[in-house]
Amino acid sequence: MHETIGHTAQRYARIATGAKRPSKNAPPLAKRRSLRSFTVKFHLKRRVDPPPPDPLSWTVYMLTIADVSKSYGTRELFHDVSLFIARTDRLGLIGPNGAGKSTLFNLILGEEKPDTGTIEWERGADFGFLPQESAPAGDETILHIATSGKKLEPDEDDYDIDYTLEPRAKKILAGLGFKEGDALKLAKTFSGGWVMRAHLARLLVAEPALLLLDEPTNHLDLEALLWFQEYLTRYPGGLVVISHDRAFLNALCTGMLELRSSTLHYYHGNYDNFLVEKEARKSQQAAAYKNQQREIAHLQVFVDRFGAKASMASRAKSKEKQIERLKEVAVDEPTEELRKMNFKFPQPPRSGLKVIELEHVQQAYGDHVVYRDLNFTAERGQRIVLVGPNGAGKSTLLKILANVIPINGGVSELGSNVVPGYFAQNRLDNLDAKATVFENVMSLRTNENQLSEQQARAILGAFLFRKDDVHKPVSVLSGGEKSRLALARILVKPPNLLLMDEPTTHLDIQSIDSLVGALKNYEGTLIFISHDVHFIRALAETVLHVHSGRLTPYSGNYDYYLEKSKAGDARAALTAGFTDARPVQTSSANLKSQLSNSKSASAVRKPSTSDIRKFREQVGLLEKTVAQLETKQAGLTADLEAPETYSTPGKAQQLNRELSTIVDQIATATAEWENAVSKLEAMEKA
Ligand SMILES: Nc1ncnc2c1ncn2[C@@H]1O[C@H](COP(=O)(O)OP(=O)(O)OP(=O)(O)O)[C@@H](O)[C@H]1O
Ligand SMILES: [Mg+2]
Repeated sequence: MHETIGHTAQRYARIATGAKRPSKNAPPLAKRRSLRSFTVKFHLKRRVDPPPPDPLSWTVYMLTIADVSKSYGTRELFHDVSLFIARTDRLGLIGPNGAGKSTLFNLILGEEKPDTGTIEWERGADFGFLPQESAPAGDETILHIATSGKKLEPDEDDYDIDYTLEPRAKKILAGLGFKEGDALKLAKTFSGGWVMRAHLARLLVAEPALLLLDEPTNHLDLEALLWFQEYLTRYPGGLVVISHDRAFLNALCTGMLELRSSTLHYYHGNYDNFLVEKEARKSQQAAAYKNQQREIAHLQVFVDRFGAKASMASRAKSKEKQIERLKEVAVDEPTEELRKMNFKFPQPPRSGLKVIELEHVQQAYGDHVVYRDLNFTAERGQRIVLVGPNGAGKSTLLKILANVIPINGGVSELGSNVVPGYFAQNRLDNLDAKATVFENVMSLRTNENQLSEQQARAILGAFLFRKDDVHKPVSVLSGGEKSRLALARILVKPPNLLLMDEPTTHLDIQSIDSLVGALKNYEGTLIFISHDVHFIRALAETVLHVHSGRLTPYSGNYDYYLEKSKAGDARAALTAGFTDARPVQTSSANLKSQLSNSKSASAVRKPSTSDIRKFREQVGLLEKTVAQLETKQAGLTADLEAPETYSTPGKAQQLNRELSTIVDQIATATAEWENAVSKLEAMEKA
């Protein structure tokens, strides 16, 4: 496991960052968002550039990735990618399954080498990394893992360490769902998911300058997830988190990195902001592309018509040059959206009304009794989500229903004509890691179910395994690719009782949507466990709360359950126990320390009330300027999108030039305004 690495170069990238937190006096978020408008320039660049200089917060970049490219065989994962990460960044890294997100982390960690380009750390920057899958567990205790990341000061002795670290580690372990007493148990007696939680605790205890987390929420149930999310919002260091969980990204991120078409694209704000900004960029790019193509076509008509005429030759030549120049700065053609997983569950044979019944079921693991007298019935067509605290026995219930573990007592009975299908939480339970994708499907062929190679390829194609992909060994598949393969296998023998344990884990956002669509049309019975609130909300029609061996049904959707059970209150109480237990570095505190470090701030004498008043007026004027520029921008954008614009040759080009100028002016004015707001805040506090 990586904890620290030495600097690979002694280069200090003394570049300023614009990635500040909103200050108290800043306008409301909606206003700020509109001020940080996208720029035409963005589309013309193939790299993520550093934000514009902001003299108030000179920042050293912790991590500088410059012009990195990386391919596996013919598949290019990164083409000339650059990225700058500052200590205050909270970035969400998103992109489809198999895009190369985990590979980017491997490159940052030095586990893989880029084909070209450089990756440099600031001197002394330490980081913590949580891998997407599997963490080692040996003879150490959970508490030992949780405290093993903290580097000791030379004069610290063991007594001090126990005194300061342990209570903190224990609180974090409790927040992540460990029960009292678990801390001293051996890690190897826990499942892989729990060992990962212990490692997550280790990172939170160590508090490195940069956290690199690869899908951390995959290992958490809803309660632990909400605690973790809250904890991270107060994390004092930088953060790059790979996640497909929209609610999590929304709560946490101040910037989004989208890995698409071998390139990183930067967007301001959280996931919702990303969606809005992406749409805006797309339509602007489409307009700019259309307009450029028209301009070229128009010039070409002139060249074709008059190029051969001696009297017009020089003018035609100059138009030809103009075409060349336009082509040099060609706007990329808007590309097709990415391939989407596209499948339907074939309608299974209809089962009897009663699908499954458990009567007086007992289930224990050694001394640990999970269920004493469990009674449960599911009826045809129900969509039931199992919720409840971790360790309550949700996965055990699903395994009992799927008949993958024997029960210790009682009766479990399937209804007539019921074909169950089970999607295990750990997909590798059902997959052969050494075999290829194709072999993992063909191995399901039975005498009754003669699956042809063509059928297998068709099923795999729907799950985005095309051509040579099907011959990849499972061991090199990305997390999402493994999940897709596990889903593909369900289609080989369609069940009418589908039991799914965390089916969205590792799936990208589009694939989750595809799965939601397929499950909504599924006529069989669905019983599932999920920590993805979006997924639960989209599907669940009944909520079954599992706690202390008891089941409490709520005949309604997830919101109905939240309301009736007052579960929200219970979670709030859980979180409240931790918030004031540790030092919290707020954004305004950050800003203050930045100000006191900066030359300009230290030179400022204590401002008088009239100074402040005058300065406030200036801020108002700056804000007005930005608003005026924005109105102009909106007008120009509307003109650019109007069809009639394109009937006047050259008009669109002129509008585009004006728009580009305005966008630059907005960026400058916004930066000035933001600086002024920060200064005003500092003056008022002085
Ligand atoms: N050693 C390898 N040889 C060949 N292909 C590889 C190898 N390692 C990874 N890949 C492929 O590279 C692609 C990127 O993998 P990576 O794990 O980085 O994806 P990811 O963006 O993290 O996806 P996910 O969201 O599913 O976790 C995948 O298609 C994967 O199969
Ligand atoms: Mg990954």
